Amino acid sequence: MTASPQDAAKSDSEFLKATNYSGFRVEGGWKPIIMVRGDGMQLEDEQGRKYLDFSSQPSAVNLGHNNKHIMNAIKAQADKLAYVGVGFGTDVRVEFTKRLQQVVPENLVKFNFGNSGSEANEAAVKMVRTYFAREGRTKIITRYNSYHGWTAAATQLTGGPRRMATETTGAFPGIVHVPDPYCYRCPFGLKYPECNVACVEFFDYAIKNEGNVGAVMVEPVTGASGVVVPPKEYLPRLREITEENDVLLIADEVLTGWGRTGEWFGVDNWGVKPDMLTTAKGISGGQFPLAMTATNGAIAEFFEKNWFPLSGTFSAHPLGMAAGIAAIEEYQKDDLIPRAKEMGTYLGKRLEELKSRHRSVGDVRGLGMLWALELVKNRKTKEPFDTPQDYLAGKTLMVSKVASKMMSMGIFVYTGVVSHLIISPPLIVNMEQLDRCLGVLDQALAVSDGEADPEGQS
Ligand SMILES: Cc1ncc(COP(=O)(O)O)c(C=O)c1O
Repeated sequence: MTASPQDAAKSDSEFLKATNYSGFRVEGGWKPIIMVRGDGMQLEDEQGRKYLDFSSQPSAVNLGHNNKHIMNAIKAQADKLAYVGVGFGTDVRVEFTKRLQQVVPENLVKFNFGNSGSEANEAAVKMVRTYFAREGRTKIITRYNSYHGWTAAATQLTGGPRRMATETTGAFPGIVHVPDPYCYRCPFGLKYPECNVACVEFFDYAIKNEGNVGAVMVEPVTGASGVVVPPKEYLPRLREITEENDVLLIADEVLTGWGRTGEWFGVDNWGVKPDMLTTAKGISGGQFPLAMTATNGAIAEFFEKNWFPLSGTFSAHPLGMAAGIAAIEEYQKDDLIPRAKEMGTYLGKRLEELKSRHRSVGDVRGLGMLWALELVKNRKTKEPFDTPQDYLAGKTLMVSKVASKMMSMGIFVYTGVVSHLIISPPLIVNMEQLDRCLGVLDQALAVSDGEADPEGQS
């Protein structure tokens, strides 16, 4: 098909805008920047402009863009055996599985592979419901302030505005949401530690009152919905509550896995062993679509005698397996993960300093290489600049204005839904780059400070 004269006259960006969807936005507001090259921390656009990527696209290219070791592994595997279906084994699948056994919590003994985080969570839902089918335990509890993906079950698992909007296309049944460990805006109006971590105790209440719960799914640290780090008692107590109630605990580590929080997996920060763990993004250093749902021994044993309800054409794709092996080697090399933890302490301190100087910064949260600034119009009242309804209506959010300003100065950060700027660089970031990002952020916060209420200083 030849391009129409109208198409030929368009820039590449206009052409894409007219012919492709971007997603999770009112599409009219999409103005794609055409990227042509990636290298380590850097992205380059078609105009030759260079950006340091402090988003990791988002929280996926944990080892930087075009990681050479992973690229070479994919190329070598493509030359040898590019693809074979999931019913066959491959030598790279054997090797990747052995490497996984070294890094995932040791109670997770059997793995299913897919292509995206949404699929990994979709798979977890199907497994839980099959596992508990005889008892009729179909319900899954997740939290309001969460993101678990875009497919049918994963959207419903999601707690925030992205679920609200999609429910108009038909809600996926049997998912129940509970309040979050969001201390800055405690849903119970309490203060830590006097609260006795009421948010985690609420799981016990919800499980008992719902009656037919099969599993609880949480992001160990809430990711795109605001980088909410729970109090230290939270996850260990959630593990106890789920065990006491004979309910499975699923850790959604799509974003928090692979060193992002300064440990291999988010749960490792608290020594918690979930019954299932889902992950994607950093599993291949974000260089190939790959995801995993890992299960404990009891679930694995159950499916020895019962029909396993899912499989995909591209599950355990050999190129993904090769990418996964190379990614693990890269994480292990140069102790990138402990380094992320150390640099995270520095980043957190510097962000707190920024908060003390910028009246629009309401809260700073994070750990490892995953941090967020929550921007507010009024620090005393915590009034936000924008609401979920503004986001769904396609309004340009304050966080987007600040991120655009940063982009114009060569730093790319991403924006959470709806008031968070998220700083989530590849783990290979160096101190000089980190300082440059902080300098640019310092300048760009003038945009939100300018619209913040001067009376709102706390
Ligand atoms: C915690 C979490 N779960 C699930 C997903 C969905 O993953 P994917 O976009 O690969 O489908 C994401 C994506 O950002 C995520 O952050």
